[in-house]
Amino acid sequence: MRIVLLGPPGAGKGTQAGMISKKKNLPHISSGNLLREAVESGTSVGVKANGYIEKGLLVPDLIVVDIIKDRILKNDCTSGFILDGFPRTLAQARVLDEMLLGLNNKIDIVIYMTASKESIVKRLSGRRICSGCGANYHVSYVPSLRNGICDKCGGKLNQRSDDKPETILERLRVYRDQTEDLVRYYRKNGILKEISCENNIEAITKNILDVLCRSSL
Ligand code: AP5
Repeated sequence: MRIVLLGPPGAGKGTQAGMISKKKNLPHISSGNLLREAVESGTSVGVKANGYIEKGLLVPDLIVVDIIKDRILKNDCTSGFILDGFPRTLAQARVLDEMLLGLNNKIDIVIYMTASKESIVKRLSGRRICSGCGANYHVSYVPSLRNGICDKCGGKLNQRSDDKPETILERLRVYRDQTEDLVRYYRKNGILKEISCENNIEAITKNILDVLCRSSL
């Protein structure tokens, strides 16, 4: 089963990808996490990518596509995966389709996650990430038991550098300009299913699982 989670920053793609990954036993592939890992390791790709991420801009297609291709070719992806944050442009979607076609595969479903600008800004400005294990929290909606400390590994919780208010607005602008074309592309292909993500996390997971079940996935 090959699933794409598409939607604006803060719609909850990473959160839901984590939940569905456990339920369906599929690897969660986040282009943002892969890029941030490259940044942290100080690779040449990471150094190039960081300049774009910090400004809230998209990293050039060539860089992201290579990272995702390498990841999809790993053994744990043979029976499927959940893509979170990729593709982000029409060019990326076309490369992905071509690559999967070459492997006699295809994307089965695209879950289009929508949320209001107000919810998005609240979610992103309150998000905290564990510096140790990468667990995702929110100061109000998903708080840790001890302020600023991860429940799972005791690591320090940090704010992502691109979750500053001005960068959030830039990311939303970039999403509108560059990513919304994808909605039309996948709708035309007949595999887009839209889900409102204004609800709580558990209710959204249930909706996504229901949609997958109705699509016999
Ligand atoms: P990326 O890491 O992909 O960020 P994004 O798409 O902007 O999405 P986010 O991770 O910010 O949000 P999300 O939808 O996953 O929400 P989450 O579940 O965390 O990309 C970062 C950057 O990398 C890009 O700007 C770009 O520079 C680069 N990049 C990445 N992919 C690229 C690509 N393909 N091409 C080019 N460049 C690329 O939830 C957010 C918060 O809300 C959390 O705190 C969570 O706990 C909380 N929350 C989630 N759901 C709910 C809910 N239902 N109710 C209340 N709170 C909730």
